Amino acid sequence: MFVVVGVSGGIAAYKTVQVVRALVTNGHEVHVVPTEDALRFVGTTTWEAISRHPVTTSVHDDVAEVRHVALGTQADLVIVAPATANTLAKMAAGISDNLLGVTLLATTAPVVVAPAMHTAMWDHAATQANIATLRERGIRIVGPADGPLTGGDSGPGRMVEPDEIVAAALAAAGAVDVVGAPASDLADLRVAVSTGGTREPIDPVRYLGNRSSGKQGVAVALAAADRGAYVHLVAAHVEGTVLDRALHHPRIAVERALTAAEMDASMRAAAGEADVVVMAAAVADFSVPEVSDVKIRKEDGTLTLDLIENPDILAGLVRDRRPAQTLVGFAAETAADEAELRERGIRKRARKGVDLLAVNRVGWTQGFESGENAVLFVDASDEVTARASGTKRAVADALWDAVLRLR
Ligand code: CTP
Repeated sequence: MFVVVGVSGGIAAYKTVQVVRALVTNGHEVHVVPTEDALRFVGTTTWEAISRHPVTTSVHDDVAEVRHVALGTQADLVIVAPATANTLAKMAAGISDNLLGVTLLATTAPVVVAPAMHTAMWDHAATQANIATLRERGIRIVGPADGPLTGGDSGPGRMVEPDEIVAAALAAAGAVDVVGAPASDLADLRVAVSTGGTREPIDPVRYLGNRSSGKQGVAVALAAADRGAYVHLVAAHVEGTVLDRALHHPRIAVERALTAAEMDASMRAAAGEADVVVMAAAVADFSVPEVSDVKIRKEDGTLTLDLIENPDILAGLVRDRRPAQTLVGFAAETAADEAELRERGIRKRARKGVDLLAVNRVGWTQGFESGENAVLFVDASDEVTARASGTKRAVADALWDAVLRLR
């Protein structure tokens, strides 16, 4: 593939060297387009040596080859990493005062962006509005990750790791050639999967959360990708290393969405391009309307939380479904016996309007952190059409078998 890697001026530019290197090693033709500021962090010599192509920042170089347009029109994939707040703002406004801006306007290829900036800049309403605009235009945003930032602060703003950027970019471009995927029963299917439990902030240190580990949703994503699908995995909070394999899978693009509102936006965008959508995330039904920006203390007296209802993401996806799209939900239910579980599943399937509902029984000793699961599948016939138990991967494969029977 012909890949353009745009680099804007952030310290994370040094990590982008590894992105370029991985793509070149995978046999792609990579052209690096840094901004002037980016060259303060990593110089032309490094980019040229790693990409094995000349590097320019200005539209006035190589004018005879109309390089400024050629890069954008030839690209099969464009990556911008790191994307600073300034570059995101320029992208949202369509400003093209450098070669990167022009390239981005000239391209119709998938664009994948890895933001990197201080948390305050990321949280600013202007940046968030720009991100929303870019998402609406179909641009894939990976990250930012949460963690220590340059300068000692910590929070969302770190650029995600190079292998995550490469995986997201290749998945966005549908890069079969790189993977050498064996033909399989989900080949070429585009799927969006949510996983994990959302966390709704109360104050800077507390949240409303749930016991979801994310294992079942990740297993659904891995099963689909191993069977040939391209997967957009939207992950809320997941336990420990649960995401690791997905992050390294060449057909899975991972995006983080920590609250119900973030997940709503991410899943809407992901579903816009998907043939099958699986909502395996445990979405908090309620959130705190006014998050305190200081820690709530005992000495403040009794604490009363007013909660407002979160959007029902799945209901929105069902309402706006694309033609021929298959929608799958999960339901974790407490039930006295299998008959009650079945009844609850049938009622919820109808209420949610999904094509397939995977129903499992939960309790304090069942269903959550364990590697095993047992589910009933209910479809629009209002019958239990299949059952699966065993590892979460086995349940995931049974889910895809059921989806294939429906399609
Ligand atoms: N779901 C969602 N948005 C929410 C809540 C749930 O998209 N705000 C999705 C879940 O990902 C799951 C399905 O809906 O696929 C069923 O979740 P569940 O919590 O069982 O549904 P609720 O409608 O909240 O039902 P209940 O009243 O039983 O909690």
